[in-house]
Amino acid sequence: MEKFTLVTGGTGYIGSHTSVALMEAGYQVVIVDNLVNSSKKILSRIEQITGSAPVFIEADLRDTSTIIEIFSDYPITSVVHFAGLKAVGESVEEPVKYYDNNLGSTLSLLDAMALSEVSTLVFSSSATVYSSSEIAPFDEAAELGPTNPYGMSKYFIEQILSDIALGDDEWSIGLLRYFNPIGAHPTGLIGEMPTGIPNNLVPYIMQVAFEKLEKLFIFGDDYETPDGTCIRDYIHVVDLARGHLAALQFLEDANGSHVWNLGTGKGSSVLELVKMVEEVVGKPIPREVVGRRSGDIPVVFADVEKALNELSWRAENTLMQMCVDHWNWQRQNPDGYQ
Ligand SMILES: NC(=O)c1ccc[n+]([C@@H]2O[C@H](COP(=O)([O-])OP(=O)(O)OC[C@H]3O[C@@H](n4cnc5c(N)ncnc54)[C@H](O)[C@@H]3O)[C@@H](O)[C@H]2O)c1
Repeated sequence: MEKFTLVTGGTGYIGSHTSVALMEAGYQVVIVDNLVNSSKKILSRIEQITGSAPVFIEADLRDTSTIIEIFSDYPITSVVHFAGLKAVGESVEEPVKYYDNNLGSTLSLLDAMALSEVSTLVFSSSATVYSSSEIAPFDEAAELGPTNPYGMSKYFIEQILSDIALGDDEWSIGLLRYFNPIGAHPTGLIGEMPTGIPNNLVPYIMQVAFEKLEKLFIFGDDYETPDGTCIRDYIHVVDLARGHLAALQFLEDANGSHVWNLGTGKGSSVLELVKMVEEVVGKPIPREVVGRRSGDIPVVFADVEKALNELSWRAENTLMQMCVDHWNWQRQNPDGYQ
């Protein structure tokens, strides 16, 4: 029998890649998204890749009655929940917007799920929930302590979901803590569509390479790392998408709440990444080193043993492949889905 899964935020960056992975594994995907940070045009791109279009419903997750209707219209048995706002800086300036959207969406979804007797959920969390006092590699038992409203919203949602699973053993919930997703589908048909000036490093570098932005600002080269720049764990979005599939399959035969890091387990510095992009695009990336950004942790990378042991999942793509695919997407779609 075909399995229907609801993908919230499925027209977004990670949601679209995960929808492709789910559809390729035989799932019927129903996407709900309010398009606040994505475009409907992605649906035909997904169809080009997979041979069929997902069902799409344009709605805000906070509209609980519409979400209940979706559950009654389709035989959905699980949910992969991506919908949320994700810009750290904006969350500091507009915390209420972030708490309202991220917590409000999740509470509304949980209400609709409970009423519809759907109790399998995969949630997009983030490595930003870890405390800055921890030393890499971060395993899932590391101390938590987010430092901004965006990270707090993920932390609160993790707590809510863990409490739900604790109180009712019908629920099976996966909390996926992503490290730094980059790259794009190898076809170049889907990828990240930043609106305005990108908040993340790789989309920013790509726009410098594309001469849409003048130069890259490197925030500090005096950290205690081999080249002085911050180290992060970059993961190919297609590997991340496969991680959701593995988590969902695990949860279909389990209950309780489970947390997994999704990263490569390997850190790369800002300078290493810049040099790799230079190799891929075949030209220098203009850059300027400026002062440290407050709150930046020098070294962040994942301990990925738990996902390997429990989900038999590991990231496979190299940093070079991530850069090649990201550039390929950027080149083919200089204005995103416009
Ligand atoms: N990209 C990253 O670096 C990263 C890292 C860690 C965690 N995450 C989390 O993963 C999830 C997906 O991230 P992404 O990079 O694909 O972001 P994205 O912005 O591309 O996708 C999020 C989608 O959710 C939709 N959305 C937002 N609020 C909604 C609402 N109230 N109702 C319906 N739809 C709504 C947006 O329109 C968008 O399509 C987010 O929850 C994000 O916080 C992302």
